[in-house]
Amino acid sequence: MNRFVGTPVSRVDGELKVTGRALYTADHHVEGIVHAVVVGSTVGRGRIRAIDIGPAAGQPGVLAVITHLNAPRLPYRDYHGPLVPVGERLHVLQDEQVRFFGQPVAVVVAETLEAAQHGAGLVAVTYDAQPPALDLAASSSNQPITYARGDADGAFASSETRLELTYRAARNHHNAIEPHATTARWEGDRLTVWDKTQYLVGAQNELAAVFGVPTDAVRVICPFIGGAFGNGLRSWPHVVIAALAARVTGRPVKLVLTRRQLYFGVGFRPAYTYTARVGSDRRGRLSAMIHDARFETSSYEQHGESVQALGQMLYETPHVRQVFQSVPLDVSTPTWMRGPGYSTAAFVIESALDELAHELRLDPIELRLRNEPADDPASGMPFSTRRLRECLTVGAREFGWHRRRARPGSTTDGHWSIGFGVAAGAYHTLRGAAQAYARLTAGGTVLVQAGASDMGPGTYTSMTQVAADALGLNLDDVRFELGDSTLPRVPPHGGSQTMASVGSAVQSACDQLRKQAVTFAVSDPRSPLHGVNPDDVVVRAGHMRLRNDPKRGETYQQLLTRLNRPHLELIGSYAPPQQSRFSTYAYAATFAEVAVDVRLGLVRVRRMLGVYDAGRIVNPKLADSQALGAMVGGIGMALLEHTVTDHRDGRIVNANLADYLVPVNADVPDLRAVYLEGSDEEAGPIGVKGLGEVVMVGVAPAVANAVFNATGRRVRDLPITAEALL
Ligand code: MOS
Repeated sequence: MNRFVGTPVSRVDGELKVTGRALYTADHHVEGIVHAVVVGSTVGRGRIRAIDIGPAAGQPGVLAVITHLNAPRLPYRDYHGPLVPVGERLHVLQDEQVRFFGQPVAVVVAETLEAAQHGAGLVAVTYDAQPPALDLAASSSNQPITYARGDADGAFASSETRLELTYRAARNHHNAIEPHATTARWEGDRLTVWDKTQYLVGAQNELAAVFGVPTDAVRVICPFIGGAFGNGLRSWPHVVIAALAARVTGRPVKLVLTRRQLYFGVGFRPAYTYTARVGSDRRGRLSAMIHDARFETSSYEQHGESVQALGQMLYETPHVRQVFQSVPLDVSTPTWMRGPGYSTAAFVIESALDELAHELRLDPIELRLRNEPADDPASGMPFSTRRLRECLTVGAREFGWHRRRARPGSTTDGHWSIGFGVAAGAYHTLRGAAQAYARLTAGGTVLVQAGASDMGPGTYTSMTQVAADALGLNLDDVRFELGDSTLPRVPPHGGSQTMASVGSAVQSACDQLRKQAVTFAVSDPRSPLHGVNPDDVVVRAGHMRLRNDPKRGETYQQLLTRLNRPHLELIGSYAPPQQSRFSTYAYAATFAEVAVDVRLGLVRVRRMLGVYDAGRIVNPKLADSQALGAMVGGIGMALLEHTVTDHRDGRIVNANLADYLVPVNADVPDLRAVYLEGSDEEAGPIGVKGLGEVVMVGVAPAVANAVFNATGRRVRDLPITAEALL
């Protein structure tokens, strides 16, 4: 039945995007709109002593200057959704405390953006400032997350080979093209927001809780997202500020964060210090691994991310102990960023494995193959599918791994030292309950709707493919809509679960619609299909026909018109198994070739290859966007991205895209992705294991390992800078 699933269909919304007709949050026109500009704290910790709003409030066009002194007290009802961290979220403009540099301390609302910007510059705030706590090493920590199996310390002590290695990963910011933005409009006690979000229901619940209104009084709209990478999964202070400003002024308010403000208060990948102790026998069989890590969180919330899993299940390691501690600092709360937790853990584990391979004079791929587990070593469950071995061996062949020389620094090209690196990765397959509405019309087209999001993976397109196949329609006859909290419920658009969850609901809805139509046909005496077995009817391009006698049949259009039914409609749903008997992960092997100019400390990635075991690939063209995009992100993590904080006041000194470096075209020459063919039936009805996160896991260590192979220099701090290599 698959005509479109599995094929490289171009984005159905591509034309809208390239012609500028796709409306991102700040593009929506709302009658009577006014503009808000946030004023951020210029100290990293302390309290506001006084705010002079007079000069700002007196400016022409300024409608309101709202601070904690005049803002209405907001209910901030308890709300602990799945994506809200432990702790108490920032109650914005509700008290005089300053918890991090850049914390919103005032908002200016004006008839024009220019007037609001000018007004914001005139708000004078004085503080009682204290030195902020910003040191990951020196500060105290929250209750650690721990794990143990076997006797890791004993096994490590008696291992034939022992390595103790400390790695550091810098803080990274998401830096999506589209800035966070919110437009809020109240009609009585009903609130509509156009918001850049990966989780419509999350934003809806958050706003309902903050303003003390019923959930269904809040509607969230977000049809397009210009990149998000995880920091659209929860609602940040500016969303509340927009709604608060709209309530105070009685006008619809648009608030767009500036590029600089995107570094203060909409999340980041936390910095880590991570020590790994690895014990193995002389043949490279791992006996013990001990993980000790500290990472940043805010003073008011405990960020959590899945940093544990890889250390427990990637390799057959009998003895494992883990201690992960979040350290409360005077920073805003971190959040999930592409392969959250896993990407950082992979940098450590996959670098450590490379160091072990070097120590043992083993090929890094051979070392990994020797430690492949038969079953999930953490849960004891069988893997639904695990083809990491194949990812590594196919990758080695496709990449030309045999050309790698084991001795570092032994391959040169002019003044460049050439190095090859590899790293493995995995990411668990998440699935969540989802619903989708489908309506097959007498015009022969279908409308499918779900409250999903599309931050870039191509949800519009992939869902169109699934619906077209399930109904036997052409792509042009399918219209898929998403991005509105009034549409059927789906899980957050994160953790690589949209395809498996929403896709399964769409497939279920459309399967049922097709069956309904076929049932109507075979039971209608006027239908050419009357009396035949419904199982013998196939649908192609909207034409129902008998499998063995294709001339016999009719179209959906003919059937519904004759029956005088304008449409058939229903809601399909998907619920993941309550308890799976299988361990389900997507896997990746990433290969990198770098050239290093050792005189200048310059690293150039020459090419990369990723080989993925992600189950069925619904659309290889969209999948390439994910995989190649993650390689770009991973190159950034490995070589460039580094949020730098001034420890005197908590100011981020490179809060702009000139100083916060991300890879550009010249940094990413030749990237290629290969997907192992297959499908994981245990993962769900569509057989997908999720792709968007796993593609990021392993990119940074592949680059770091290649740098070592090129130079013999092991840099354990990300990003690997020129200074570190000189
Ligand atoms: Mo992804 S970090 O769950 O958007």
